[in-house]
Amino acid sequence: MTNNTAVKIDALPDPYSVPLDQINLSDPRLYAENQWGAYFRRVRDEDPVHYLKDSPFGPFWSITRFEDIVAVDTNHEVFSSEPFIMIGEPDDSLPVSNFISMDPPKHDEQRAAVQPVVAPKNLAQMEGLIRERISEILDSLPIGEEIEWVSSVSKELTSQMLATIFDFPYEDRHKLIYWSDVATGAPELSGGTVDHDERITALFDMVNTFGALWQQKAQFRAAGNAPGFDLISLMEANENTRDMIHRTEEFMGNLGLLIVGGNDTTRNSISGSVLAMNQFPDEFAKLKANPELIPNMVSEIIRWQTPLAHMRRIATRDYELGGKLIKKGDKVVMWYVSGNRDERMIENPDRVIVDRARARQHLSFGLGIHRCMGNRLGEMQLRITWEEILKRFDDIRVVGEPVRVHSNFVNGYESMKVVLTPKA
Ligand code: HEM
Repeated sequence: MTNNTAVKIDALPDPYSVPLDQINLSDPRLYAENQWGAYFRRVRDEDPVHYLKDSPFGPFWSITRFEDIVAVDTNHEVFSSEPFIMIGEPDDSLPVSNFISMDPPKHDEQRAAVQPVVAPKNLAQMEGLIRERISEILDSLPIGEEIEWVSSVSKELTSQMLATIFDFPYEDRHKLIYWSDVATGAPELSGGTVDHDERITALFDMVNTFGALWQQKAQFRAAGNAPGFDLISLMEANENTRDMIHRTEEFMGNLGLLIVGGNDTTRNSISGSVLAMNQFPDEFAKLKANPELIPNMVSEIIRWQTPLAHMRRIATRDYELGGKLIKKGDKVVMWYVSGNRDERMIENPDRVIVDRARARQHLSFGLGIHRCMGNRLGEMQLRITWEEILKRFDDIRVVGEPVRVHSNFVNGYESMKVVLTPKA
């Protein structure tokens, strides 16, 4: 079962009818039902640094305004990423450790080891391949009939790209999507619906599969061949990460990070961009009339969608923010999804404006030392997708309401039906 299957949704109350100190921004129904906007608006206006005493994820602070999120995200000494960056606590039976959940110096060493995979030179080399793959996917879609956009395009493209950067067997690429979904979909982590035993089995399968791939690459290198430029070869060749295969927790954690990092995020931005062009038809017309706006539109979509709703930190000492005293040891959740809609910082934040000025000034990639390592890759995939869409189609009409992910972490779509109209 993936994130959103068979979830019964009870009606959510009007946010203004709930006592302010009981508003629970971690309720996954807010995201599954697309109701989070009004809840966050109230909290941003009335109690922007908000404390909830009691929740399924324990007590936590919510940081909801743009500038306060900047203050927290850029202060890693006070706001530690250890032991974990999702609101929930990881399961003791599955200890994981990865560099997004580490502070310096370990974070910096491990990030530096894998960063070359997304270096500008490597990205430039990937561009042609991405274009070829998205073109093939788009050319294979039936015209004029209802199709499932999430599985046929968004998931397909991101799994192909991940298989490329991992040099993972192409025919098994759908496993990458599955592992990514189960990694973040546990109820105790994000309010997801993935069964505990299924999750453990899947993640061990992931570790074993990547373990075998690692050994295969090590043997290839030992036989005198030059190492590849994929993520496993880079980790295997770097002195800070080469023994990671023997540190199961870190091995599993870093693979999970790289798979999730490059997966749900880009996938949900692609789906979100199609929905946005349906909700704002004038902006779609503007884009079609002027495809040079695509790079700007891509940033605007990534802001509007905010594919990862939050990151959490733990305060390492008492700290005052917005007139509130955050105590040492408190859990602090930065809601990017709210900061990106903060009217104090962004004009008309709920609207998608494809030629918005300074569209890249958003929070979706985070800030500071953990700022998304794959941000340029994600943007590139979206840009190429739209360049190729506009060459082929006049319209991508969304039919009915999309089904959204039941999670307070992944802000995205399980399913979205569309009908394509080719260019006249
Ligand atoms: C970190 C979002 C694409 C790999 C992050 C963070 C966010 C994020 C919010 C944490 C930032 C923080 O704590 O300050 C996104 C979005 C994407 C995207 C919205 C696409 C639209 C990718 C891709 C990759 C990737 C394609 C694949 C290489 C990572 C890694 C980290 C990270 C490895 C950890 C960085 C660190 O801790 O130093 N991303 N991401 N991301 N992302 Fe992405």
